Amino acid sequence: MPTRAEVLSALSYALDLVEGQPTGHAARTCLIALELGKLLGLDRHDMQSLYFAAILKDSGCSNNSARIHKIFGGDELLTKRNVKFIDWSRAVECVRFGAANTLPEGSALARFRKFLNNLGPPAKVMNEVTLARCHRGAAIASALGLGRSTAEAIRSLDEHWDGKGAPTGLQGDSIPVLSRVLSLAQTLEIFAWTFGPHQALDVLKRRRGRWFDPEVFSAAIATESDVAFWARVHASGHAEAAAAEPYPDHAPLKPIEMDAICGTFAMIVDAKSPYTLGHSRRVSELAVGIGKTLDMPTDLVSDLGRAGLLHDLGKLGVPNSILDKPDRLTEPEMVRVREHPRQSFAILAAMPRFSRIADIASTHHERLDGRGYWQGLGREDLGLESCVMTVADVFDALTSDRPYRKGLDPDTAISTLWSEAETAFDPVCIEALSAHLGRSQTELAA
Ligand SMILES: [Fe+2]
Ligand SMILES: [Fe+2]
Repeated sequence: MPTRAEVLSALSYALDLVEGQPTGHAARTCLIALELGKLLGLDRHDMQSLYFAAILKDSGCSNNSARIHKIFGGDELLTKRNVKFIDWSRAVECVRFGAANTLPEGSALARFRKFLNNLGPPAKVMNEVTLARCHRGAAIASALGLGRSTAEAIRSLDEHWDGKGAPTGLQGDSIPVLSRVLSLAQTLEIFAWTFGPHQALDVLKRRRGRWFDPEVFSAAIATESDVAFWARVHASGHAEAAAAEPYPDHAPLKPIEMDAICGTFAMIVDAKSPYTLGHSRRVSELAVGIGKTLDMPTDLVSDLGRAGLLHDLGKLGVPNSILDKPDRLTEPEMVRVREHPRQSFAILAAMPRFSRIADIASTHHERLDGRGYWQGLGREDLGLESCVMTVADVFDALTSDRPYRKGLDPDTAISTLWSEAETAFDPVCIEALSAHLGRSQTELAA
């Protein structure tokens, strides 16, 4: 088993997706935060808490995606990315931002109407979406047993030194020091990645004493001439972040801990859209049930369960304007959707000893006749475990409500699967699904 740091660092790429950030944003933020922590003389416990808070700082972000899409319309991933470049504590910048980001592809009239609808105290809107993400992120850190300091660092991530941040308007020293470090580190990373560290620090300087703790800012300024540090940050990704854990015990995760992390990321994925709540958990349970019915080896059944939990990780990179769309998707939108298993693969394959899970998870939209996506694999390329995952995924999709239709009852869904047996789905897996569902029904009735 890999270590907690290895797994969470790799999965942080999924959190970058949901925030519309370039790959490696959380990993690079983590390295910057640790450097600031070192310069500020944080103790061993704080450094360790800061590390995990930085990696998981955006774990609550899928929770506000649908809401942000509803407020602004358009691609909320772009909205999320753009908002990071403004000083949202200033009303004028908020109004300008709203005007530029509301229904960017809509007609002038539609944009104007939606913009008027959104008019209200910008701080109120910001508080609402920040509250959703910060509390959720803190709850996730707690659920993963990462300790109170890590959870509180995430909860107060968007508070500002002058008390004009979100969600509760904490001020000065009442903001946890780890949040003050992390808040500056994430902004510094975003600007440094785009404009370089010198310009980034110029932006931060203008927010010193308003957004940022002057002492933390002084630590950041001390890095300005450290060319080697910035080159290292720029070239770093999840592997470097995993290796940067301040006080590692190198203990491999226990299976139960691994399952808890996979289950948590399943919730993060499913929280992005109201139409996918519980989807990954159900797919995982169905895949495990089918695998057991087919007498698959225990370790393979276990991988099926984890692959089910993580199969749609890449959907965090699909905007809600597509996921929640009530109408038929356009071809460019379909292209975007077809990318998600590739993204799942890229994230999962980066984890040590996760290659089989990456393969199973990322083939859930492939078909026996080769007309699936993203690789267009065919019968001879697909293992039985991939076919199990496909059947589990499609069954749950068919029985769930979608923006454009109600969910089918289980019998009709099974008939639908049979109508494409041999072309799309392996009949062995459909039979096993039926047997598993029949047994589950009997067990429920008993
Ligand atoms: Fe999918
Ligand atoms: Fe799925």
